[in-house]
Amino acid sequence: MSQDDVSLEARLEEQDTFEPPESFVEQANVTDEGIYEEFEENWPECWEGAADLLSWEREYDTVLDEGEAPFYEWFSGGELNASYNCVDRHVESGDGDRTAVEWEGELGETRSYTYEELLEEVQAVAATLQDLGVEEDDVVTLYMPMIPELTIAMLACARIGAPHSVVFAGFSADALATRMNSANSEYLLTADGYYRRGDALDHISKTNEGLEDVDHETTTVVVDRLGDDLDHSLEDGQHDYEELVADNRGETVQPVTRDAEDMLFLMYTSGTTGQPKGVKHTTAGYLAYTAWTSQAVLDLEPGDTYWCSADIGWITGHSYIVYGPLALGTTTVMYEGTPDYPDKDRFWEIVEKNEVDVFYTAPTAIRAFMKWGKEYPEKHDLSSLRLLGTVGEPINPRAWKWYYKHIGNEDCPIVDTWWQTETGGHMITTLPGVNEMKPGSAGPGLPGVDARIVDAQGEEVDAGEAGYLTVQKPWPGMLRTLYRNDDRFIEEYWEEYSDPDADEWVYFPEDGAKIDDDDYITVLGRVDDVINVSGHRLGTMEIESAIVGVEGVAEAAVVGGDHEVKGEAVYAYVITEDGYEGDDDLSEEIIEGVVDAIGPIAKPEEVVFTPELPKTRSGKIMRRLLEDIASGNELGNTSTLRNPEVVDDIQQQVESN
Ligand code: WTA
Repeated sequence: MSQDDVSLEARLEEQDTFEPPESFVEQANVTDEGIYEEFEENWPECWEGAADLLSWEREYDTVLDEGEAPFYEWFSGGELNASYNCVDRHVESGDGDRTAVEWEGELGETRSYTYEELLEEVQAVAATLQDLGVEEDDVVTLYMPMIPELTIAMLACARIGAPHSVVFAGFSADALATRMNSANSEYLLTADGYYRRGDALDHISKTNEGLEDVDHETTTVVVDRLGDDLDHSLEDGQHDYEELVADNRGETVQPVTRDAEDMLFLMYTSGTTGQPKGVKHTTAGYLAYTAWTSQAVLDLEPGDTYWCSADIGWITGHSYIVYGPLALGTTTVMYEGTPDYPDKDRFWEIVEKNEVDVFYTAPTAIRAFMKWGKEYPEKHDLSSLRLLGTVGEPINPRAWKWYYKHIGNEDCPIVDTWWQTETGGHMITTLPGVNEMKPGSAGPGLPGVDARIVDAQGEEVDAGEAGYLTVQKPWPGMLRTLYRNDDRFIEEYWEEYSDPDADEWVYFPEDGAKIDDDDYITVLGRVDDVINVSGHRLGTMEIESAIVGVEGVAEAAVVGGDHEVKGEAVYAYVITEDGYEGDDDLSEEIIEGVVDAIGPIAKPEEVVFTPELPKTRSGKIMRRLLEDIASGNELGNTSTLRNPEVVDDIQQQVESN
């Protein structure tokens, strides 16, 4: 470390609160701290301001309908179209020449679409979908990498009222099939492949493998991303994207009128059980909420160039690459590849080249940047940046401060935004022009968001004590249900802390948290069987069921262990069947099994073979203990276990690996 770094570290380390820079506050969209009180006093009508950011075909009748709580309805009676709101209206208001999407391919090629061009593409794809037979309310699956066609396809679906279900391209063939079957989705848009660290990656073989397990007929459209870099031929019933779309360029497709509560999209996410949950978001509440938070939290304005480095296959990309920024008429940057290709300064090169104003990324990326060193950002002029954000997992103060100094030059506020697939948009974060920042703590609940920390009985805990995060009032961006599974919706999110007899509903996100005297919330992580690997949400049960599917495996327990860059890493503890040896070969097969069932993101960091798993006297696996072993933590008292003798053995194996 240089002398500079040492003194910076010393100075920053001491500091635990940061005021937003004056230069930022002067121009911020929200600067009045009275907004918290205003929202509280005027709830739920306070959300009319969010609805006002949208263009409606028909005004809504009521802001919030609580009649069927917790099946809340927002802006009922209203009618609108999301694609119209994200595209057409900006062209109609004379901003058609403004760049809507700025795309950067991994190999360095770029493509950019003005709002006018985006409108043409969206209509051409909408017409194509209609030609193929897609009707309103048909679920269209989009299994695509980070190419502009993905954004265009989402908007085309929205235009014709066909909900999309985007499946992250890094997910496996099995994961694709499960999601298509669950949503009964008969249409699929995919790509032949994409580039990763310079290599052409075959995506179409994986797609075809997945389609074999889809239990109904599917019409498939394939984007040719790789050209001559991948030889492949279309199977029966598969169409080439460009061939179909080219015929439809110049077509007009009127946006269909959607009710406020009509489904905009489905997004599958991991939960406690082995089956992913189909989170349902609707048109008006979701769009109003993502637009409002993009404005208030990300401080976006129409003239801004904004870059969120997430993948659109996750909720962050849906809300804050596509819907929120485009609803506001911002220029949104999309990047296909990895942060270290061709070199570790790729992100900063993109920021400099595009003069990015607002940058939003995950703590895991920041920890990787830190490891690579400040010389990479220092090669570039990052002075265009005005605001930085993080999402996906807790950020440790050291990473926060590095981001603040080396990317933001101490000139940019940082918003640490806590939210979930289910919440649709930001829930807990500072407002960058209003609140001071406390590294490591996300901040207070947003105005109108009633976030409280409670104990197991639902009583609010004192400041400083760990408890469970709850949200005690509904908000417009909330999920409406789990697709075709209202019972599970209640069980997963509401049963724990609600009092249905009193008609009091409390949303439980399944995160642990604590609150301080200023009502700043520090999120501690999941309290269910979900782990967070590099900001990706993975169900341990899904991984376990993949592992026990491998021949020779009798039992498995999967937990998250601390990881310097990934936040958490997957640790698999495995008992083999008699006659099978826990050796490197089996270890490889287990890893392969997980990759096949879910995808490379779920790859176990370590597979530990053990004759037994530590269990309580009642026979429950002591997951906490396994987590501590994986993280290298001091172990507490193990004498209450039924089989304390296995602990040493497991611990030694983990340490020796
Ligand atoms: C975690 C991602 C701490 C949390 C938008 C949540 C966070 C889960 C933060 C949702 C944050 C997200 N600080 N933890 N700022 N943001 N999380 O559905 O555990 O992929 O429940 O949505 O990520 O993950 P999901």
